Amino acid sequence: MRIAILPDAAAIAGLAADRIEALYRRKPAFVLGLATGSTPLPLYAELVERHKAGRISFAEVSSYNLDEYVGLPRDHVEGYSNFIHRHLVDLVDFREGAAHGPDAWTGDSHAAAAAYDAAIREAGGIDLQVLGIGSDGHIGFNEPAGSLTSRTHVGVLTEQTRRDNSRFFDGDIDAVPTHCITQGLGTIMEARENLMICTGEGKAEAVRELVEGPVSQRWPATILQMHPNTVVFLDEAAASRLEMKDFYREVWEKEQLPL
Ligand code: GLP
Repeated sequence: MRIAILPDAAAIAGLAADRIEALYRRKPAFVLGLATGSTPLPLYAELVERHKAGRISFAEVSSYNLDEYVGLPRDHVEGYSNFIHRHLVDLVDFREGAAHGPDAWTGDSHAAAAAYDAAIREAGGIDLQVLGIGSDGHIGFNEPAGSLTSRTHVGVLTEQTRRDNSRFFDGDIDAVPTHCITQGLGTIMEARENLMICTGEGKAEAVRELVEGPVSQRWPATILQMHPNTVVFLDEAAASRLEMKDFYREVWEKEQLPL
């Protein structure tokens, strides 16, 4: 796991976009994994700007979202597929049908989860997966106490996650679904690169566990310590509870990441 502590969200968005732009130059038909939440929004805005400037095209790209709520109407504005279309896919040059997400509207979410997992494999696997972190340590919607090797599955959301996400539902926790379909931790671990972005004080405890805690089901994101190519971009607030901050800064300065 490589760690960069950067001044602010804009600096993170720039470096994260550099990695995606470099991947595009190596492999224009890359497979991109997309996270929802507010954290990656500056990155998606930066990708839209670079697309407008002619630096990156998504014409040959296919994307796979991390997760989707179960129980929202398909056209609900906070549905994750709609979110990703609104903030990225519809603003650049994705081909019709090239942006994918778990299908939570088939009536059989367990079968839909298995089919989604198979579709990612059939697409050749994810080249670069964008990740955020929940304040309880979840990635995707892999909540505490789930298997560290899980495949895409139907999951139950913790009360903390539903409280955190209620800001997207007019502050009403009861409006936040209780279930989801999420890529499993085993699925996420197969991405060739994971690019984790964490910003703000509210993530500081989860970040401390992610980087310095033991690998455990209690903090699902800690499984990334076992991944061979994971980059973690932090702002100062998210990094504030790390014990070895100075060492991470030194390593980052001395060993700039190849793009
Ligand atoms: C949701 C998503 C996660 C995301 C997390 C953090 O629960 N399922 O993929 O990382 O929220 O969201 P935010 O970036 O808004 O803090």
